[in-house]
Amino acid sequence: MAALASRTLLSKAAQQGVRSAGFHSTAAAARKVCVVGGGGGIGQPLSLLLKMDPNVSHVSVFDMVGAPGVAADLGHIDTPATASGHGMSLKQFTGDEAIPKEEQSAFQAKEFDAALQGCDVVVIPAGVPRKPGMTRQDLFEVNATLNANFADAVAKNCPDAMVAIISNPVNSTVPIFAEQMKKNGCYDPKKIFGVTTLDIVRAHTFVAEAAGVDVTSLKIPVVGGHAGASILPLLSQATPSVKDKLTDEQVEALTVRIQNGGTEVVMAKAGAGSATLSMAKAGAQFAISLIKAQNGEKGIVECAYVESDVVPECQWFATQVEIGPNGIEKNLGLGELDTFEKQKLSEAITELVPSITEGVEFVANMAEKKVA
Ligand code: NAD
Ligand code: LMR
Repeated sequence: MAALASRTLLSKAAQQGVRSAGFHSTAAAARKVCVVGGGGGIGQPLSLLLKMDPNVSHVSVFDMVGAPGVAADLGHIDTPATASGHGMSLKQFTGDEAIPKEEQSAFQAKEFDAALQGCDVVVIPAGVPRKPGMTRQDLFEVNATLNANFADAVAKNCPDAMVAIISNPVNSTVPIFAEQMKKNGCYDPKKIFGVTTLDIVRAHTFVAEAAGVDVTSLKIPVVGGHAGASILPLLSQATPSVKDKLTDEQVEALTVRIQNGGTEVVMAKAGAGSATLSMAKAGAQFAISLIKAQNGEKGIVECAYVESDVVPECQWFATQVEIGPNGIEKNLGLGELDTFEKQKLSEAITELVPSITEGVEFVANMAEKKVA
C-alpha cells in the first residue's frame, strides 16, 4: 500500500516536471502549489515556508526571471516536498545566451503552463508593490492586467485549483481575476480568495501587545477588504475576550493601526517595497489551510475576501469562511458588531464599493476592446 502511494506520488511529480531532487512523503495526498511571482520579495520566503510544510508535496515557482535559481536553492532543503522553477533564468533573459526578445513571451507562456499544470493551490504574490505616498489603488494600472492574464493561465491549466490572490489592490484584483475566470467559463466562487490574512496577523500582534495577552492564543476576525478604511478589525469578537483589557480609546487607536499596518511598513522600508516577510507568513498560513481543507481536515476557518452577499452593497467582502475539500462551505458572516464597529462598517463599505466596481468594469471594458 505504502509502495503504491509512493509510486502515485512519484508519477504525479513526474507529470509536474519536477526538476529538483527531493524526498517523497507517503502520508497525505500529493499537493502541488504554484507560487506566481515566486522570485519576489514575498514569493521567495513564501516558497520557503511552503517547502517546509509537511502538507505540501511540490512547490512550483514561476516568475519572469530567476525562478529556476530559487527552485534549485529550495531543492536542497531536507524536507519531503520537491521544487521546480519555471520562467527564464537570468542567463536566458540577458547576455550572450539570452532567448531572443521576440521568442521570450512564447517561452514564458509555455513555462507558466508547466508551472500550473496539476496544481491544487495557486498563490499569487506577483505584481508591483507600493512606495511611500502611494495607495494600493495606485497599483491598479499594472497589476490589473497581470491578474487578468493569470486567470487565463489558471483557466487553461488548472481550472479546479483554489486560488489565493495577494497581488494589490486586493479589493480590485480579486474581482478582476473572478470576472476573467467567468469569461473563460470556469469561475467557481467557492475557490477564489483574496488574501487578507496579514490584517489578522497584525491584529493579533498589536492587540496582544496592548492588552498584555498571549499572542499565540488570540483570535481576531478582520472583515471588509484590504485597504485603509475597508479593513475592519472586530476587536469585540476577540477570543479570549480583550474587552476588559482595553479602553475605548485604545480600541480606536488599534483599529487605526491595523488599518494602516501596510503603510507603516512601506514608510519604514522607505522606497524599498512593502511587507514581505510578515506577508509570507500570512500567505503560507492561508495556503496551507487550503491544502488541509482539500485533504479533508475539518474545522478549517480563515478570514478571506470572497464573493459574498453578507453586505448587500459589496459583491466582494472579507469574512470568516469555513473551507472544505471543494472550497468555501459556509460563510460565517459578520457576527454581532458593537456601535463603534457598525460605524466603521459604513466607512469600509464606502471605501470598498468603488474598488470592486473598478475591477469588474476593467474586465468588462477589456472584453469590449477585444470585440472592437
Ligand atoms: P516584488 O516586486 O518583490 O515581487 C513581485 C514579483 O512578481 C517579482 O519577482 C516580479 O518579477 C514578479 N512578477 C511581475 N510580473 C509577473 C508576471 N507577469 N508573472 C510572474 N511574475 C511576475 O513585490 P512583493 O513585495 O513581493 O509584492 C508583490 C505584490 O503583493 C504587490 O502587489 C504588493 O502590493 C502585494 N502585497 C499584498 C499584501 C496583502 O496583504 N495582500 C501584502 C504585501 C504585499
Ligand atoms: C500590506 O498590507 O502590507 C500590503 O497590502 C502592502 C501594502 O502596500 O501596504
